[in-house]
Amino acid sequence: MSAGATDPSTTDAWASLARLAESYTPDLRAQLGDAGFVADRSLTAADLHVDLSKNLADADVEAALFSLADEVSVAARRDAMFAGEHINVTEDRAVLHTALRLPASASLTVDGQDVVADVHKVLDRAYAFAERVRSGEWTGVTGRRIETVVNIGIGGSDLGPVMAYEALEPYRQDGLTCRFISNIDPTDAGQTLKGLDPETTLFIVSSKTFGTLETLTNARLCKAWLLDRLPSGADADDAVAKHFVAVSTALDKVADFGIDTDNAFGFWDWVGGRYSMDSAIGLSLMVAVGPDHFADLLAGFHAMDEHFRTAPAEANVPLRMGLLNVWYTNFLGAHTHAVLPYSQLLHRFPAYLQQLTMESNGKGVRWDGEPVGYDTGEVFWGEPGTNGQHAFYQLIHQGTRLVPADFIAFARPSYDLKDEVDGDQVDVHELFLANFFAQTKALAFGKTPDEVRAEGVDEALVSARTFPGNRPTTSIMAPALTPSVLGQLIALYEHITFVEGAVWGIDSFDQWGVELGKQLAQQLRPAVSGDAAVAAEQDASTQSLIRYYQENRR
Ligand code: F6P
Repeated sequence: MSAGATDPSTTDAWASLARLAESYTPDLRAQLGDAGFVADRSLTAADLHVDLSKNLADADVEAALFSLADEVSVAARRDAMFAGEHINVTEDRAVLHTALRLPASASLTVDGQDVVADVHKVLDRAYAFAERVRSGEWTGVTGRRIETVVNIGIGGSDLGPVMAYEALEPYRQDGLTCRFISNIDPTDAGQTLKGLDPETTLFIVSSKTFGTLETLTNARLCKAWLLDRLPSGADADDAVAKHFVAVSTALDKVADFGIDTDNAFGFWDWVGGRYSMDSAIGLSLMVAVGPDHFADLLAGFHAMDEHFRTAPAEANVPLRMGLLNVWYTNFLGAHTHAVLPYSQLLHRFPAYLQQLTMESNGKGVRWDGEPVGYDTGEVFWGEPGTNGQHAFYQLIHQGTRLVPADFIAFARPSYDLKDEVDGDQVDVHELFLANFFAQTKALAFGKTPDEVRAEGVDEALVSARTFPGNRPTTSIMAPALTPSVLGQLIALYEHITFVEGAVWGIDSFDQWGVELGKQLAQQLRPAVSGDAAVAAEQDASTQSLIRYYQENRR
């Protein structure tokens, strides 16, 4: 797989898509008036019901997209990923997050190692640890049971656990709370530790590399906070052993930090940080929701993996959604993609997807090092509905930019509340879902000038009150937001991201783009602390900004 990357823009399918785009006239009203068209595009992937019919793609476009996938060998690359080939070319690594959710009965040997056995060995230890914390068997150094778990990590070692902790709030154990520290802004540690009782607090230091400045700094801050506040007489080593555990691929560095490796949970270099929440990186979540629910989450991931691996192209939801995103990005000029969950519990889902999609596909060279001559990556963003409706939907409805949007909703509410209006009981979830259905309809159909006039609107206001319509959306529904469904949703977006990266011929699994800023921060630190010589080496703008900082520091 690592030889040459196909330049997708040289394929016949790309040329066909370019031609189709030139003459393409969207007509979602016609599409949605055709029950057969809608039925053919209402797909099932595990427990997800996915309606693709409101996308700006007719049968010709879809056929050309499938041809594109064939010409750049998306299926072969997918199979290479599942088999553990080193498709992360620039780091010479396998990409095997899918192995994290294989059942214990499966087997997969990669680079001479049975990875399924390894995964389940760690998982069993992590589950046992989570149970000890949940049951109160694991106590702090003074013998009190743990009430708060603080995950210290950033990027993939933070965003997944936080997002899922929020999403699965109804599944959490009472009396146990998780908090998360990620930012090196001291405000984060300062605020998060506020009000905590050191005797009942357990820290999980989560870092794939155990070399990330933010995480190590925050871990040291938390260690000092703990040791300063525990009752005198508590032995420091015992305190660290009872209040600090770690999750990392670098167990030697964990030991150097002073954490007993008996209390550390490993994973492997074939798990990318942004694909790691279903490894031991999810330890805080395991403690919060328990091993059984975590196992359901993994089963959900696996169900979507199997769908992606085995479903034929026409029925393959991640493949089709990924290809549609390529169509919007490379042929219809979209730059961004909105993800709009109609679930307050998914309020961190768009932030999670930002790392997943943008760290993966924000690349300007193909995996063989050749520069791309076409756009890659989409800016993913979003907020839960209906809040977004009262904030940024205006631009999606009437603005000049094309913003494809994924709408996500659940048939059953997580909180079933009724509102009493004029003596009637109103199901609030139904009110909520009516908005979900209304928005995709409004975006698709719009409102013509004649329809506006028919409402008696003054002619001077007709254009301002006209909605162009033909704004593309995908609707994703599931029976309820369960751990399994959450796993399915995450895996869906992992594989959409994969498909896009495979078409673009890029390495979706490295992240060299985050290095330069890290290096410069290290170089600049002395200047920030007053080293005039280092400051003098900087460009004029950086010097002036540092001068401003120093003048206003105190
Ligand atoms: O931002 C770069 C990155 O390497 C991410 O890919 C990763 O999730 C994050 O930093 C944290 O890394 P680590 O888990 O090694 O601390």
